[in-house]
Amino acid sequence: MEKETEQNKMDKIISLAKRRGFVYPSSEIYGGFAGVYDFGPMGVELENNIKSHWWKWMVQRRSDIVGLDSSIFMTPRIWEASGHTTGFSDPMAECKECNTRIRVDKALEEIGITADEKMSEEDINKLFEDNKDKIKCPKCGKQNFSKAKKFNLLVKSNLGDFTENNNAPAYLRGETCQGIYVNFLNVVDSMHMKLPFGIAQIGKAFRNEISPRQFLFRAREFEQMEMQYFTRPEDEMVEYKKLKEYRWKAILDLGIKEENLRWKQHENLVFYAKDAWDIEYRYPWGFDEWEGIHARGNYDLTQHSKGCGKEQNYYDQEKNEKFIPHIIESSVGVGRSVFAVLCDAYTEEEVGGETRVVLKLDKKIAPIKVAILPLSKKEELTKPTMELFNSLKNSFVCQYDETQSIGKRYRRQDEIGTPYCITFDFDSLNDASVTVRDRDTMKQERIKISEVENYLKEKLK
Ligand code: GAP
Repeated sequence: MEKETEQNKMDKIISLAKRRGFVYPSSEIYGGFAGVYDFGPMGVELENNIKSHWWKWMVQRRSDIVGLDSSIFMTPRIWEASGHTTGFSDPMAECKECNTRIRVDKALEEIGITADEKMSEEDINKLFEDNKDKIKCPKCGKQNFSKAKKFNLLVKSNLGDFTENNNAPAYLRGETCQGIYVNFLNVVDSMHMKLPFGIAQIGKAFRNEISPRQFLFRAREFEQMEMQYFTRPEDEMVEYKKLKEYRWKAILDLGIKEENLRWKQHENLVFYAKDAWDIEYRYPWGFDEWEGIHARGNYDLTQHSKGCGKEQNYYDQEKNEKFIPHIIESSVGVGRSVFAVLCDAYTEEEVGGETRVVLKLDKKIAPIKVAILPLSKKEELTKPTMELFNSLKNSFVCQYDETQSIGKRYRRQDEIGTPYCITFDFDSLNDASVTVRDRDTMKQERIKISEVENYLKEKLK
């Protein structure tokens, strides 16, 4: 997509997200707070639907995976053992003219040079030096940068530290999976899990991102949905292949168009990794990472065995063997999923010489399933419409709306992706029927009120 159209699509999605109560910039009345977002009334419904879809696929439909909700704060020793206090960093340079900070690997990527955050400081500086004349400061446009330095992304807190200079900061977790690793033996002991098995969790993660960008794509506070699957060493790659296929299907089941997805294999693997692939989505600026699926060997549990001094071994009773299991993981951001789903569903159509904006969300993740609308605000209509709302609200997520003209209300429901609108009009008083409008086809059907619930159950099945 051309740069201008790219920006145009981004602007349209960000504007709809704000206008229709999906996503607001954090602290907006104080001028904002970079890299942090609030989810509005429609956003929280969409987010919850995406999370419960993931939970259904990753926990409830699987007899071999269990859930967990570990704490955000953990002992700093965990982040030392995992390598985050030393290695969890991105290369950063500062514009000497206006002090704007840039992520050097991303700036290089934008000019077509392959770089990644795992490169050594020396290697990335060489690439940066060689290409400095092609990289401009995004703020002032000058080309006068400091050397690239690795910047650690962990966010520190003063939890439990009552001194002035906080020498052993507790971190806000930088990824949710560490809480899974350190509970591995608890889950084995309490749930009698046998290999291969998985532990899944959804929760907040925090990263001091150098340049949060592209809306929800790279935020400083975000949620992750992570599943760590523990295997015998020899089964790792077989299970890895199965997990990749399973996650692809799960993403398609969110209603995503397959042509907007692709696989990308990591070129620069960390030393312990066996293989690493991302599922990429075609965001307005092009394909970029949505989810990571990695084969991690036995690195994580080995590090925690060393860190805490207790072997994180699995005991296989049948084979009478003790060993550290290997891990494959699937890791995906909730915000990135919300963004991908919004991009995929956003549609503009010409209707009667006007542009209709409609979110063609899969019905199961639409924030509101049924809008219930009296044709006018007259009490003879609003009262029975409210009764209809009350009779349906326990079966479907419904919204009652009586403000503005019916045409405007339909447009509003289109923009939040509501699959069905039900209108109670003056004829309804005589024929005990209502009009049901389909979001995608805009076709309207007259349905007996007594049959509406079954009709919707069938449609939303
Ligand atoms: N445990 C592995 C891990 O955390 P990651 O590639 O750093 O790996 C996994 O993150 C997923 O979390 C990404 O694929 C993305 O969906 C999401 N994610 C990571 N950083 C993010 C950020 N700054 N903002 C929003 N989502 C992010």
